Amino acid sequence: MKLANKVALVTGGTSGIGLAAARLFIDEGAKVIVFGSNEKRLADAQRELGDAATVLRADVRDPAQIDRAVAEAIEVHGAIDIVFANAGAGTAAPFADVTPAQFDEQFALNVSGLFFTIQKSAPYLRDGGSIVVTTSFLNSVGTPGLSVLSATKAAVRSLVRSIGAELAPRGIRVNAVSPGPIDTPFASKLGLGEDELRKTGEALAAAVPLKRVGRPDEIARAVLFLASDDASYMTGAELVVDGGLSQI
Ligand SMILES: NC(=O)c1ccc[n+]([C@@H]2O[C@H](COP(=O)([O-])OP(=O)(O)OC[C@H]3O[C@@H](n4cnc5c(N)ncnc54)[C@H](OP(=O)(O)O)[C@@H]3O)[C@@H](O)[C@H]2O)c1
Repeated sequence: MKLANKVALVTGGTSGIGLAAARLFIDEGAKVIVFGSNEKRLADAQRELGDAATVLRADVRDPAQIDRAVAEAIEVHGAIDIVFANAGAGTAAPFADVTPAQFDEQFALNVSGLFFTIQKSAPYLRDGGSIVVTTSFLNSVGTPGLSVLSATKAAVRSLVRSIGAELAPRGIRVNAVSPGPIDTPFASKLGLGEDELRKTGEALAAAVPLKRVGRPDEIARAVLFLASDDASYMTGAELVVDGGLSQI
């Protein structure tokens, strides 16, 4: 039990990587607070995760909603030990076609949402706590059609260093997990047609040195490592879990 008596906040904990992490955290003894924005997925996650989870609606694009949900979580749990700031999405479009609305939307969710999740929960984080954020292998490679998504993930990589520097005096560690292509609903929300989605998926899997896409539980185990005392001397760092895609 690596997280016995710990309280963990997981944004985007209703699906994919966040849901797998919430499940693993509970298996390791934690109480989990899950944020998501979709009512049906929130209800499904509550059913799946059971009593160890407090599932709350919060659209992280809106700092006021984060504020309200953090306050609710603190009423239930008193304090937080771990924040996994993971909610995110992207829209695929060639650089020339990106609209201002698409640009703002991706930065609002992936950067502002993550930033204010950490800012608003930090006062309630116990000293010695751990923050993990989800960036992406995209933060270090150039990919046609994913310029804005990739830039949001590079911003997130940078925030880990700056926020890590500010929270280090409290013994709070801040690290990033950097997934490669993972089998979740994420790709289906990029706005690609069915055919293009399938072809992109096949091309990506073929480009991965390990020759397959990853599973959400493979990212969740890396997140558990960063969140737990196993990573007690790591902060400001990025753990790349991408089958070698951005490294080899
Ligand atoms: N899958 C991949 O290949 C891959 C690769 C690299 C990085 N990542 C990153 O991994 C993270 C998790 O993605 P995933 O693959 O697990 O995708 P996913 O299954 O689509 O999960 C995304 C999660 O984000 C939540 N979310 C979306 N918009 C939100 C909002 N406005 N407010 C609050 N929550 C919101 C969703 O909940 P609701 O629907 O309830 O809002 C959902 O729980 C993302 O940051 C993504 O960029 C994914």
